[in-house]
Amino acid sequence: MTPDPYLSMDMLRFTTAGSVDDGKSTLIGRLLLDTKSIFEDQLEAVERASQLRGEEYVDLALFTDGLRAEREQRITIDVAYRFFATPKRKFIIADTPGHIQYTRNMVTGASTAELAIILIDAQHGVITQSKRHGFIASLLQIPHVLVAVNKMDLVGYDQAVFQRIAADYTAFASKLSVPSLTFIPISALLGDNVVHRGENMPWYDGPSLLHHLENVSVGASRNLVDFRFPVQMAVRPNAGFRGFAGQIASGTIKPGEDVVVLPSGRSTRVRSIVTFGGELAEAAAGDSVMLTLEDEIDISRGDMIVRSGNLPQASAALQCTLCWMSEEPLNRRTPYILQHTTRQVRAHVDELTYRIDVDSLHREPAQTLTLNEIGRVRLVTTQPLFFDSYQINRATGNFVLIDPYSNNTVAAGMIRRADQELADLKVANFLEKSATLRSPNVVWERTAIGREQREQRHGHQAAVIWFTGLSGSGKSTVARLLERRLYDLGIETFYLDGDNVRHGLNGDLGFSAADRKENIRRVGEVAKLAFEHGHLALCTFISPFREDRRFARSLLPEGRFFEVYVKCDLEVAKRRDPKGLYAKALAGEIKEFTGVTSPYEEPEAPDLVVETDLISVEDAVEAIMAELATRGIIGSR
Ligand code: ADX
Repeated sequence: MTPDPYLSMDMLRFTTAGSVDDGKSTLIGRLLLDTKSIFEDQLEAVERASQLRGEEYVDLALFTDGLRAEREQRITIDVAYRFFATPKRKFIIADTPGHIQYTRNMVTGASTAELAIILIDAQHGVITQSKRHGFIASLLQIPHVLVAVNKMDLVGYDQAVFQRIAADYTAFASKLSVPSLTFIPISALLGDNVVHRGENMPWYDGPSLLHHLENVSVGASRNLVDFRFPVQMAVRPNAGFRGFAGQIASGTIKPGEDVVVLPSGRSTRVRSIVTFGGELAEAAAGDSVMLTLEDEIDISRGDMIVRSGNLPQASAALQCTLCWMSEEPLNRRTPYILQHTTRQVRAHVDELTYRIDVDSLHREPAQTLTLNEIGRVRLVTTQPLFFDSYQINRATGNFVLIDPYSNNTVAAGMIRRADQELADLKVANFLEKSATLRSPNVVWERTAIGREQREQRHGHQAAVIWFTGLSGSGKSTVARLLERRLYDLGIETFYLDGDNVRHGLNGDLGFSAADRKENIRRVGEVAKLAFEHGHLALCTFISPFREDRRFARSLLPEGRFFEVYVKCDLEVAKRRDPKGLYAKALAGEIKEFTGVTSPYEEPEAPDLVVETDLISVEDAVEAIMAELATRGIIGSR
């Protein structure tokens, strides 16, 4: 087996954190320069550029900033890895651009970092941002924190300045869980104590920064127990071969071991572990490999292969710590894209439990999180995630949130645990669908004609439009007119109505919470079948419970389920009372009537709200048509 660079003891991954002008780029430039990791021509170019700017010293920041403009164009996870090596060890620096968005540096790609360099400007001392960096390092469980007190040249290399900063920071860090904390006084610009000791600080008898990087112990924080293999892609070079490529996130694996594929729950066995260098007898965390399996199983990107008997947790409701990294504050209505390992699901912040004041480390109530703020939240996802808590597995316990409109990474998160309250129901629902309750002898028959083919013929995309709202809110009225409009445009619709299905398919169900749940489960499944046949399914159900609606959504691919909240004041609905049911309910003749004796849980993040007590049916239909066109389901007219 080839030695694995990620696991081997002579590799250190680290991140750097500093505020504006603390000298992060200069420090990285200095490390690269003094370890001779920079090519002659690069050095000359930078020397020339520095001269042109009339600078006295070579501007080392140009080494790292040179690429910046180009990198700033990129979207989503914006991180560049810089490599350099000394005879003792190889190094990878997770480096990200951006002066203000300093938290990014640490949280992006930090789940594999073993050390964080926190830069403090000797002239300014410990500032809030320095504390924030320390706090993030402890949240991320980065085992080593190295505080580089920079710009010592600008404070006359004064030992007292260094000692005061070290004392201040130690006092703060004692409240955190930082296993190893080291202070080194440096001048990144002039090179003191970076690679070489220099002569300006004879009072300092510790190692140089590079010496420290070369000698800290690494490897202890990796999870080598729980095998987790997020699938990057299925590879099928020819009919006889099928493999699944990816990087092992944690644990180890050997051919012959029993594995389970998530989310399908199918079991099989590893046949072989293939790499460019040949087959392996064992592979471990960090290895990029291709697994072949004994059985033909449908597996695609985002699935996870794990060892039988060592399953991750599954939940669609998560307690997490979030580091907010965007200028746009957290919006609880936004259906963010959650990227977890190789998988993407939709997620929204269901609850912001508290924000943490990084100066005092106190919890405080908050309505939102803004740039660089840190908080505890409950997240709800459209599909269950398969994860471990960050504490035991950094690789499968971290995620990022992406803004669906701008495509920017807006937050990084660490999963603490499943939210039991919400999760139990959801997972039970999900497993029911996927693995446990599925009769092993029933396979899904693919229809001869695929959805894409049907969509092509129909000239529009398939989708489910789910109308929810009180009885009498106007769901059916709006849906009927919408269906007429769609039909006139030649769109293939399929209409499922609450009252109608209760005559036949769901004639056995009443209105208890359990019956309503079953009602929604069945019609959700029917809507999915219609969807698979290329239709635009219109579903009008009170569906008063969030959990049930979430379930219906979970059956469909991302972007194909539209929850339309038909909103209407309860008093208006009572006055309308088209079927005379409110009157009966109020008279006690109907039990568990929504809005009277049974609750209606308003959607928290509907795709669209139409307020029928404020706008006309025509306008409501117009709004839905516009939304469908915007989302590319139907052509724009
Ligand atoms: S759901 O709650 O399970 O989604 P659904 O939309 O299928 O309800 O059925 C609601 C329709 O059943 C209402 O439009 C109303 O005509 C009728 N109905 C009869 N009893 C009740 C009740 N107890 N609560 C709500 N709707 C009722």
